[in-house]
Amino acid sequence: MTVLELIEAGARQLEAAGVAYGHGTTNAFDEAAWLVLWRLGLPLDDLDSVSNKPVAQADSGLVATLFEARIATRKPAAYLTREAWLQGVPFYVDERAIVPRSFIAELLAEGGIDAWLGDHTRRVLDLCTGNGSLAVLAALAYPDVRVDAADLSPDALEVARINVARHGLQERITLLASDGLCAVRGPYDLILCNPPYVNAQSMATLPAEYRAEPAMALAGGADGMDFIRQLLRDAPPCMSEDAVLVLEIGNERANFEAAFPALPVFWLDTSAGEDQVLLVERATLTQALARDRPPV
Ligand SMILES: C[S@@+](CC[C@H](N)C(=O)[O-])C[C@H]1O[C@@H](n2cnc3c(N)ncnc32)[C@H](O)[C@@H]1O
Repeated sequence: MTVLELIEAGARQLEAAGVAYGHGTTNAFDEAAWLVLWRLGLPLDDLDSVSNKPVAQADSGLVATLFEARIATRKPAAYLTREAWLQGVPFYVDERAIVPRSFIAELLAEGGIDAWLGDHTRRVLDLCTGNGSLAVLAALAYPDVRVDAADLSPDALEVARINVARHGLQERITLLASDGLCAVRGPYDLILCNPPYVNAQSMATLPAEYRAEPAMALAGGADGMDFIRQLLRDAPPCMSEDAVLVLEIGNERANFEAAFPALPVFWLDTSAGEDQVLLVERATLTQALARDRPPV
């Protein structure tokens, strides 16, 4: 069998088993390609150059075992390969942290928030850092900033520590255990946050692949806004005068707007559309609080 034939057979197997995607791939072929190429030790980003390569029987056996594990455990591929890629940057991941897939990564890599940044942007907070991927990408995108990366989960922080070291960023990224903003040391010029925001109804019907991730990384209460309500209340004192907060909310725009009807925000364009990530300026948050119409 060739590499391509193995991938096509694997994709048919994944489809027949009804596995769920969304942790780095969106379809059976891409997921199968990832698993096959990784297992064979081939480059993940250049299928064309290896697609006709014959695969030895023993290697086909190793691939078959990996597909069996993907189907039997329903774990996202990244938990089996121990690696996830965001914007071309590799990250270690295991079951202690959610598989990184934030759309904020695109904004960092493509300059989507640069209009709000400038010489004043010195201190960045990645709140809810998980495996530390956004903190690393922010440090790579903005070489002059220092980044604090905070999470409530000691397990996630251990994974983040591995990634900070992997990218040699120990001097510029500080990991902090913090419940929301309780233990961080502002003021920050930029806060990035991909918080737990999945509403209770959606949590109840999540595919097994998502249930393989830490529940505290996903569950945001009845309307998904539990963490975000507290964050918007607490954020202004942690922000410098021109600071902005970039917040991912997934598919919860309707719940966000119901919870904060009077809060003007900028919706940022990502490959997922214009309603998954928003930006709010400190002045806007402060005014909303001062008007006695807090955004909560
Ligand atoms: C959706 S994940 C995002 C992880 C990472 N930023 C990413 O994009 O892959 C949410 C993270 O928030 C953390 N978390 C949940 N509740 C928290 C809290 N009260 N304070 C700080 N972090 C919290 C979880 O441990 C998890 O790592």
